[in-house]
Amino acid sequence: MIRKAVHADFPVLSKYYCEFDENGIDLFNRGPFSHLLVYEDNHEIVGFISYSIIYNRAEIEYIYVEEKYRKKGIASELLQFGIEDANTSGCENITLEVNEHNNAGIQLYAKFGFVKAAMRPRYYHGEDGILMIRELKKSE
Ligand SMILES: CC(C)(COP(=O)(O)OP(=O)(O)OC[C@H]1O[C@@H](n2cnc3c(N)ncnc32)[C@H](O)[C@@H]1OP(=O)(O)O)[C@@H](O)C(=O)NCCC(=O)NCCS
Repeated sequence: MIRKAVHADFPVLSKYYCEFDENGIDLFNRGPFSHLLVYEDNHEIVGFISYSIIYNRAEIEYIYVEEKYRKKGIASELLQFGIEDANTSGCENITLEVNEHNNAGIQLYAKFGFVKAAMRPRYYHGEDGILMIRELKKSE
């Protein structure tokens, strides 16, 4: 089940977020344009997605699935949710940055129609990022 994150989810989300940045971040205070959703399986949070919708622009910020729940389609469901939300909000496209060495992430995004738009040199602590974009259609 995908649902909006609530403050009680904070400890588990902070733990998961450490995979992106060991210093942590307050995922709940990213501003009014930010959306934070969790994937719950049997009352356990096993993944999350964070994205922003700023008028006609959408950006996927983070997507994460707990290791033992990977390869079961959970990230796909979360990403599809974000894409549909951006689409119904009237966004023209969705962008994201992904580490050039993150094969799982790149494959996931490619599967959902994201294509490489530009490189972001040294975007991730010295490693390059890839800017990916997906155009949106009103019918989705
Ligand atoms: C990337 C990540 C979110 C994928 O989650 P997941 O729930 O396992 O993904 P899904 O099961 O929905 O897989 C969908 C597609 O993603 C791709 N994919 C997922 N894991 C992959 C892997 N280990 N290697 C290559 N491709 C992979 C495949 O194209 C897959 O489609 P397929 O099953 O038809 O082959 C997960 O590995 C993760 O949390 N990684 C750490 C955080 C991260 O890197 N996030 C992305 C950048 S923000």
